[in-house]
Amino acid sequence: MQYQGVRVYFKNYKCFDEKLAGFDDIKNLNIIIGRNNSGKSSLLDIFKHLIQEDFSFPEASYHLKKHEPTIEIHRNLTQNVLETVFQKRRTSSDGILGNHWHYGKEYIGKLAKAEGVSSNNYQIISVQKPATIDANPNPHIEELYDTSHLRKLGAIFENPFAGKELARIHAERDIVPEPDTNTAIQNNGTGVTNIIQRYLNKVEKNSSVVDEDILNALNTIFEPEFTFKSIHCQQKDNGYWEIYLSEEGKTHIALSLSGSGLKTVIMVLTYIHILPKEKKKKLSEFIFCFEELENNLHPALLRRLINYLHHISIEHGCPIFITTHSNVLIDQYSACEDSQIIHVSSKNNVSSATTAKTYICNCNILDDLDIRASDILQSNGVIWVEGPSDRIYLNRWIAEHTNGQLQEGLHYQCIYYGGRILSHFDTSTENNELINILTFNRNAAILMDSDKKTSSTGLNSTKKRLKAGFEENSLMVWVTKGKEIENYLPPEAIAKHIGKTSVKQIETYEDFHESYAPTLSVTRKSYMTNKAKKSILAERLTPEINQTNMYTLDLEKQLNDLCQQIRQWNGIES
Ligand SMILES: Nc1ncnc2c1ncn2[C@@H]1O[C@H](COP(=O)(O)OP(=O)(O)O)[C@@H](O)[C@H]1O
Ligand SMILES: [Mg+2]
Repeated sequence: MQYQGVRVYFKNYKCFDEKLAGFDDIKNLNIIIGRNNSGKSSLLDIFKHLIQEDFSFPEASYHLKKHEPTIEIHRNLTQNVLETVFQKRRTSSDGILGNHWHYGKEYIGKLAKAEGVSSNNYQIISVQKPATIDANPNPHIEELYDTSHLRKLGAIFENPFAGKELARIHAERDIVPEPDTNTAIQNNGTGVTNIIQRYLNKVEKNSSVVDEDILNALNTIFEPEFTFKSIHCQQKDNGYWEIYLSEEGKTHIALSLSGSGLKTVIMVLTYIHILPKEKKKKLSEFIFCFEELENNLHPALLRRLINYLHHISIEHGCPIFITTHSNVLIDQYSACEDSQIIHVSSKNNVSSATTAKTYICNCNILDDLDIRASDILQSNGVIWVEGPSDRIYLNRWIAEHTNGQLQEGLHYQCIYYGGRILSHFDTSTENNELINILTFNRNAAILMDSDKKTSSTGLNSTKKRLKAGFEENSLMVWVTKGKEIENYLPPEAIAKHIGKTSVKQIETYEDFHESYAPTLSVTRKSYMTNKAKKSILAERLTPEINQTNMYTLDLEKQLNDLCQQIRQWNGIES
């Protein structure tokens, strides 16, 4: 991929503030997911500027119309670039440094950060220093590498996007009958009918682009449900042309009268197959930005369309950016080497973009756990709990506490982190990755058992790190006041469940399972070792838990905080 290792960042652009945002990597397929108004289109808008000679931004694009945007490109220095600055045959006048290339070669592969003044003029902000030069205290070397050469390096810093052709399809689009004109294709679908018509009708155009290339591609995407026999066009009385598709064994249908899903596919294929010919450029010189292709496309069709684009991108090296609010694509492409998922979210009208790649995809852990990437990305907020029984109790408490206002699946999603997932992370470095997964959706909270046997026992080290990780991200951490979640259980509920008039209150640090297992009918001996039994017990106990008996220890305060958080995630006034 020609953009490998290129990172593009910007700040103060539209809904993005002075925090650097952008792309940690450019992959073949770049899926940008986020809700409406989260900033997806704005993220793509930056390419308009990146491909241009001159980086001047219109004032309307300044963040809050006040702050001027800047673009940075970070990339690793290549031998080609370095050789032009650190010339092999040149030596310094003072003779101390000897052959420039002797030092210059040390910079191969080092990360350089540059701020764009214009598309082909960059100012180097910083360059990672090679260990060999860092170790050499010679002031002349410092001088040479920190100033003059780096300045020169900035002037020839490569912006791989400069001069590229940007082809974008907007979310709002349509294909309608059109007269024969010379107008180019526009990103709302205007001109698509005309260009297809011209390729089919004009002697100077090659009709096989439509009746072979586009038709074959169309069938690759629509089969097995539909097979199209031909694409042709006819002129109406008013002089307007109409595109017709005919299906095997059926009468032909007018494109303008068919579903918007079919129109979307035709428009995408026109971009891929006709646009390069019109612009007289190779596909590799294009950057494609397709917005919300899922509109009116059946999920299976959407998958096949994206799959087709994925292959085109790999074959020709043109990056394709797709914005979507569909979760259909996340699970498939989060596990794919040459694609990435970028999550755009907005808080207080300021957007941020995070690459999901590093933690969600590389580590297969989520697959192991039956957690789909879309669960984390798509729900309004996630509450991480240790296991299934915790989830059952928590859902009951939240429902009772809010008189049924807040519901799992609608306002939040519980996801398990306990047991197997923790066992994937033994060392502290890997534990950071765990925290990354858990805090990936910025709307997150975590509930954990304190496991305290006495008031003075502390959390174990993994939980301590988890807690710190959440707190660093300003996310809510609820550590049970008692030993475990079961220490919150009301004795009335247990008594009712086992058919007694009363049982004693569980002590704060008492081991619920040890004390109650022998008396609880469902559990008996296997209770301690069989996790499923814990959930069965939880399911049987929860109907007995209600507002009148549930508030013990710090439960009320914690539920107040948590429910407040959930309301905030959902924009619900309390
Ligand atoms: N110059 C600007 N300063 C601040 N916010 C802006 C600016 N221009 C646009 N926005 C806001 O950016 C938000 C994101 O828009 P957009 O990128 O179109 O979202 P999406 O494509 O995810 O639906 C909109 O709410 C819009 O009002
Ligand atoms: Mg948009």
